[in-house]
Amino acid sequence: MRTDVIVVAAGSGQRAGDGIPKQFRTVGGRAVLRRTLEAFLGQPGIRHVLPVIHPDHGAWCAEVMAGLEGVLPPVSGGATRQASVRAGLEALAADPPDVVLIHDAARPFVSARLVADAIAAARLHGAAVPALALVDTIKALTNNDFVGSGPDRNSLRSVQTPQSFRYDLILSAHRARIGTDDLTDDAAVAEAAGHRVAAFPGDPTNTKITTPEDFVTAERNAALELT
Ligand code: C5P
Repeated sequence: MRTDVIVVAAGSGQRAGDGIPKQFRTVGGRAVLRRTLEAFLGQPGIRHVLPVIHPDHGAWCAEVMAGLEGVLPPVSGGATRQASVRAGLEALAADPPDVVLIHDAARPFVSARLVADAIAAARLHGAAVPALALVDTIKALTNNDFVGSGPDRNSLRSVQTPQSFRYDLILSAHRARIGTDDLTDDAAVAEAAGHRVAAFPGDPTNTKITTPEDFVTAERNAALELT
């Protein structure tokens, strides 16, 4: 059973501020993208790790990946996350894996447990995502920023990456949606193609770096990891 990982890193990453795209900024002395790639390298069952990057970010990427063994040469992503994932999936087609994990570069704290659970869930169900119960109550906004009713919190989950799939399933699901839209995760692409997507326990420490404040949390996570 061959398992490959696609790490999508082709976003402009500007919401985190600072000019340099967030995936190339350092946390605890190591670039976010390098941390993310290293989290998958050497995990049991992983064959290849493939970064998908912005065509203008080649020099930054080469610097960040210097000396890293076991990573495939990066491929160029597209204008949307969906297009970037598809570029990664197509790049694996010549020597296809059985299972593929699709992960956001912006989540550098992915644990060995999550990787193992993602692989096992894809083997069992064909499509699976890590999901966390919500701590906040969700409300819909009505006019003038007043809150209306919201959905029942107990039925909701916050969904993370790595999302895991049988490779043939997710490749054909992505191919079926070429040029149609920009779905923000691969579970939505699989569902749109008629597949059921299983949920397995996510990890609260697998946080996504989006805003400048997220770098403060990330530095704290990185420091904890070192002790
Ligand atoms: O923007 P956001 O943080 O939601 O993006 C999620 C992930 O998708 C990031 O790792 C980002 O680099 C990646 N992405 C991409 N190609 C795009 C847009 C986002 O690979 N065109």
